[in-house]
Amino acid sequence: MLKTNDVVAGYVPEVDILNGCDVQLMPNEIVGIIGPNGAGKSTLLKAIFGLVEVRRGSVLFQGEDITGLAPHRLVRRGLGYVPQISNTFLPLTVHENLRMGSWVNKQIKPASREAVFELFPKLKERWDQRVWQMSGGERQMVAMSRALIADPEVLLLDEPSAGLSPGNQAAVFENIQRVRQAGVSIIIVEQNVRACLAICDRAYVLDQGRKAFEGPSQALLDDATVQKLFLGSLIGN
Ligand SMILES: Nc1ncnc2c1ncn2[C@@H]1O[C@H](COP(=O)(O)OP(=O)(O)OP(=O)(O)O)[C@@H](O)[C@H]1O
Ligand SMILES: [Mg+2]
Repeated sequence: MLKTNDVVAGYVPEVDILNGCDVQLMPNEIVGIIGPNGAGKSTLLKAIFGLVEVRRGSVLFQGEDITGLAPHRLVRRGLGYVPQISNTFLPLTVHENLRMGSWVNKQIKPASREAVFELFPKLKERWDQRVWQMSGGERQMVAMSRALIADPEVLLLDEPSAGLSPGNQAAVFENIQRVRQAGVSIIIVEQNVRACLAICDRAYVLDQGRKAFEGPSQALLDDATVQKLFLGSLIGN
């Protein structure tokens, strides 16, 4: 579905944050990206989604080269992205947030709306509520729905459980599994390593902008070296 080949990317001229990054997402997989703070996890998602300059290497989506394409063109092709921060429009209602996500179709398609309601029945009740009046967990539902309403085939999620209560975190991970069951392939960046690996098929450990380790989730959880070098205290989450 998605592949990065040797991607070098960065924000400031001559300072590379990603130093040759290779990751791959197969159809209907959930793939995790974990690693220490500042490893480049968010930058990788931004490089895939055309938000940071790719200086070398390429990004392929369904076999086609999408390197450097603007985000709005990627949404039209079936890529969705939920950023780590500022991922909803707080002063707008749930309905208005989903309209922002469905501009590619000019308006919300009834079938897409029903699909979102099926995943998140709560949003139906909260349709006209402003997002700033909602809980962190509910806001994450809105953020994910804003991306899902455009019918993506691949969803990029940056730390969807960050800042949530344990109960809301569990709900977010359940929701992600339901999104996958609905046919969406997912790349998820997470600090909550144990919960993330529990729902992922495979995962990559990033360190200093490079893939340091990859494997099936269980192998990562079991690997003492990976725990010691790259997961550290995070594994206790
Ligand atoms: N907008 C920006 N401008 C310049 N440098 C940036 C910018 N965003 C991030 N960086 C730098 O890029 C590096 C990687 O940041 P990134 O946000 O990708 O890390 P991360 O792995 O997502 O970390 P975290 O777990 O803290 O979210 C950091 O050194 C950071 O200072
Ligand atoms: Mg990040």
